[in-house]
Amino acid sequence: MTAPGPGSVAAVLGLPRFFNDQLAGFRYGWETYGDLYHVQFAGWDLWICSSPDQVKEVLVDGRDQWRRIEENRWGRPFGLRLALGEGLLTTDGPAWQWRRRVMNPAFHRELVNDMAATMVGAGKEMSQRLGEAATRSRPIDLLTEMKRVTQDIISRTMFSADLEHEGGRVGSAVDEALDYVARRSRSIVELPLTVPSPAKRRFDAAMRDIDQAVYHSIALRRESGEAGDDLLGLLLQATDEETGRELSDDQIRNEVATVYGAGHETTANALTWAWHELMQTPEILARLHEEVDRIDPMDVGGLQYTRMVFDEALRFRPPVPVNGRVTTKPARLGPHQVAKGATALLIVTNIHRHPDHWEQPEVFDPDHFMPGARAGRHRYAYLPFGAGPHMCIGSNFALLEGVILLAMAAREFTFQPATELPRGQATAVTMKPKGGLPVKVGRR
Ligand code: HEM
Repeated sequence: MTAPGPGSVAAVLGLPRFFNDQLAGFRYGWETYGDLYHVQFAGWDLWICSSPDQVKEVLVDGRDQWRRIEENRWGRPFGLRLALGEGLLTTDGPAWQWRRRVMNPAFHRELVNDMAATMVGAGKEMSQRLGEAATRSRPIDLLTEMKRVTQDIISRTMFSADLEHEGGRVGSAVDEALDYVARRSRSIVELPLTVPSPAKRRFDAAMRDIDQAVYHSIALRRESGEAGDDLLGLLLQATDEETGRELSDDQIRNEVATVYGAGHETTANALTWAWHELMQTPEILARLHEEVDRIDPMDVGGLQYTRMVFDEALRFRPPVPVNGRVTTKPARLGPHQVAKGATALLIVTNIHRHPDHWEQPEVFDPDHFMPGARAGRHRYAYLPFGAGPHMCIGSNFALLEGVILLAMAAREFTFQPATELPRGQATAVTMKPKGGLPVKVGRR
């Protein structure tokens, strides 16, 4: 059966639209060619997927033939692997599997719930900063503030107070390194890594900073004979139950960088998008206020509507808008035969707005997540944290901090757009408001 899709001429002609706004390009493709279409030109062999059935086929049932997109090019690290090294987010197959087994216990729901007090502590400092912004009348960028508080939370949960300085250093260095990787992947000509440039020098300095801070912290912990009860301590003690294998210092370095890299900008983007929508929907904001005025942020389980708002923000503006896999051998996708080496791109932004699976998909409405609403829905119509074996290890962490920070900010402050909304979105690996979200902060 021939798959629908643009011929190679139409694909080339569509490139400017695509480079201008990738997600709008995928949306146009979906509306024109349907849930599953094929694009083949200039060595690309792409299957563009916008239905939850394909999520199941590729991410869940297809783990033997669909693998993560290789983070090596010409035998050298490339993409995220340049900054994060070989770790949970940049490996697949057996190299990934044992890491995941070793890391899973550190992200167990009960251990994560114990981190709520630390999250509230960081939230109080966020409130202090927002309070200062409210007394000055100058706008702030809410995205920058959300990145600051989520990075603070990763630092405090990873390193505790004794290594606070190291935590901050790793945070800014990982940001700098990932920024370099993102800019490299966007540039039309990728200079070899051996060519010196100011950006490359900053990247090298950031990598040295990560190494020094993490190896220093590991050495201090090993010397003291106490692993500690923070995330670093859990990684130092982690053992693969099946083989008894432990993480080496290099592997711990990579996993620390991975958790920083994967674990703060995503949540910060989700919180910023939540406020982006709340500023435009006063009736939803009023329902949120009614709840957060009644319930303490530590009582996260009671913050049911706040959780619905956060879930809906993740549907409406998924921070990871596209997920991809490559075939290691010929495979089937729906009614089609797919060649070895082909790429499937799962377009989360389309799936989250699929009219067969969502009522009023184009409306931001937390009632999409009313208790019981999930029961009647396709299991894979909602995948902000991915699906299948690679599903986000930090989802409990993100949901806990997302709900706490949303409630804490809503309790005390009001935000008003300082510029016209909506301002569009920027995508690299994650999706965020273009140019941040300038707001005027007020006290309630
Ligand atoms: C709203 C916030 C977040 C979103 C939207 C998000 C999204 C995702 C997605 C879509 C994946 C799957 C990638 C794939 O299938 O290849 C993933 C994996 C991952 N996430 Fe998250 N994430 C969030 C927060 C976090 C946090 C807070 C942490 C750590 C504290 C974290 C750590 C990771 C790691 C280590 C992986 C790799 C898992 C594996 O392959 O075994 N994420 N995340």
